[in-house]
Amino acid sequence: MNGVRQQRQRLLWVDPPVVEGAPDDDSLDIRAGRSIAQVDQVPPGSAYRTTHGDDPLILVNAGGKITTFLAVCTHEGCPLGWNPNQHLIRCPCHGSAFDTAGRVVNGPARVPLTALQTIVERGEVLLVEPTR
Ligand code: FES
Repeated sequence: MNGVRQQRQRLLWVDPPVVEGAPDDDSLDIRAGRSIAQVDQVPPGSAYRTTHGDDPLILVNAGGKITTFLAVCTHEGCPLGWNPNQHLIRCPCHGSAFDTAGRVVNGPARVPLTALQTIVERGEVLLVEPTR
């Protein structure tokens, strides 16, 4: 479980996002970072799994909006997959399910998925990263 907790902590800097124009005394500057997928790899109604460093990610396209989550179950840390028939992010270990917004729709997980901030630019999904 420590590994999952450490993964979450490494990625927490993107949540909440820094708002342009917000005071910069203790906030992070951000920039659009590494491409994690091409938009074409995540057509509407589908999901795409990839990694960012050691972190497994899942990108979900719901109605044209692509959302990126840490693909680690919030129950006990199993890697998550996509059920295209149910349009749910599923955990194979104990059956938890998450909707396309990362909300729990079936336990035993009780905590929603960790969403990561991304932007789409020139057909690429870019993970927003800090500059310091
Ligand atoms: S680890 Fe996913 S449901 Fe238990």
